[in-house]
Amino acid sequence: MKIAPSMLASDFANFGPETRRMEQGGADYIHLDIMDGLFVPNLSFGLPVVKAARPYAETPFDVHLMIQEPAKYVQRFAEAGADWISFHLEATGDPAHTAELIRACGVHPALAVKPATPVERVYPYLDLVDMVLIMTVEPGFGGQSFMADMMDKVRLLRGRLLAENKSVLIEIDGGVNEETIAQAAAAGVDICVAGTGVFKAADAGEAIRALKTVAAQ
Ligand code: DX5
Ligand code: ZN
Repeated sequence: MKIAPSMLASDFANFGPETRRMEQGGADYIHLDIMDGLFVPNLSFGLPVVKAARPYAETPFDVHLMIQEPAKYVQRFAEAGADWISFHLEATGDPAHTAELIRACGVHPALAVKPATPVERVYPYLDLVDMVLIMTVEPGFGGQSFMADMMDKVRLLRGRLLAENKSVLIEIDGGVNEETIAQAAAAGVDICVAGTGVFKAADAGEAIRALKTVAAQ
């Protein structure tokens, strides 16, 4: 299991060094939650913060756009240092165009779905994206409880990808901790985002290792 610590739960006064601390702790990706106060009822941080953090770590930046009209900002997030950009299916009228735009910027496109969105709605775009992000909480806030019923969506998608021989990664985001990660592993998740599950631990590296150990059992 790959782990993507969510910087939403980090010490914002030390944002750059916090990305480095996650890298040194064994993070596979650095997850960066971008919120616009419209698509979700919260604000987080934006382009200048991603750009400022970039020199602190070499670990791929996994940027999760929880914003309306993501296509407008794709190029600027690519320039700020994103390696992956997830955008929400619910936030754009033209997911194919948005995915192509991300790809044209040299960034891996990923399609995200909120809990109420059926996973079948991503099927038309599986040739255009490198990852599907299945939300396991309502997007907008860290520290919420894991929605175990979302594992049905993971299993469905995993089956579809196997049947069609497609190498699209499956990521989940929200409520992942040592108690919930086993369900994710069993359902066929490749990457787990973990915010409070990593940052509330005294030793982030220990927390990341513990998550991986449980997932491997
Ligand atoms: C929620 C964000 C998540 C969040 C996860 O909208 O997309 O990435 O930081 O936080 P935890 O792991 O605390 O649920
Ligand atoms: Zn996220």
